[in-house]
Amino acid sequence: MAVKTRAYYAPGSLSAAFYDLVTDADLRLRGDEDIYAALAPSGGGILELGAGSGRLSAGLAARGFTVTGVDIAPAMLAQAEARAAALPPEVRARITLRRGDMTALDLKATFDLVICPFFTLAHVPTGAAWRNTFAVAAKHLGAGGLAAFHLPRLDLMRRAGPANPEAPVLDEVLPDGRRLLMFVRERSFREGVNRLDQVVEYAVADAAGRIGPRSPERLTYYMTDPAPLAATAGLIPDRPPIDIGGVGDIFVFRKT
Ligand SMILES: C[S@@+](CC[C@H](N)C(=O)[O-])C[C@H]1O[C@@H](n2cnc3c(N)ncnc32)[C@H](O)[C@@H]1O
Repeated sequence: MAVKTRAYYAPGSLSAAFYDLVTDADLRLRGDEDIYAALAPSGGGILELGAGSGRLSAGLAARGFTVTGVDIAPAMLAQAEARAAALPPEVRARITLRRGDMTALDLKATFDLVICPFFTLAHVPTGAAWRNTFAVAAKHLGAGGLAAFHLPRLDLMRRAGPANPEAPVLDEVLPDGRRLLMFVRERSFREGVNRLDQVVEYAVADAAGRIGPRSPERLTYYMTDPAPLAATAGLIPDRPPIDIGGVGDIFVFRKT
């Protein structure tokens, strides 16, 4: 029988509920905020496409930038709102959050830097959705402005291999003593479209190790060379891609 799944970051999903915990535990992401901060002028304006739980919006606002964060998932935006509300008022005042689709967005404003962090662009299919997102980035930049897209490494997606549903890929103690477990239940890579499909199963174990209800959630990544699609929006490579943790690269483009 086919497993009933929900989409990553859907309402009630554990991928949304435990996003911060899982991301904090992933050492391969460390340092991305420093890279984005170095791309914008001091105190400048940043548009974040796929702002998620506000991990970067909050950090960049604390560094003095003014940040507009856009996300399609209400469950993620709710966390970003809660995070922002807990910040000192002067930092909170530098953050604007709104629901929106990065493939079709028009804020009628320009920014010094557009960022699309942690594989967000890889959540939508290559082709029209990528072209439209690059056009959105270009529309929100002045001439010479930078846009940074963090994308996964295609060779690793291709080599990921079949799932091992028995071996947890994460086993993390929660603040209340329970444990969060993650398993990859299904995984396949489709050559040509360069699509990695995964069913990631989340489960919480109590202090005695009893595993509660499992939540299988679909996570799909798409990847291709972004440069030709970015060029259709007038975005040209600004520097060689910046490696992050050996699992992905930040591609920086400049608006012509
Ligand atoms: C991996 S999270 C990244 C969150 C945050 N930027 C970070 O680095 O921690 C990807 C986010 O992209 C959002 N997302 C996916 N497709 C989107 C779209 N078409 N428009 C806006 N946000 C989208 C998801 O809802 C999710 O919150």
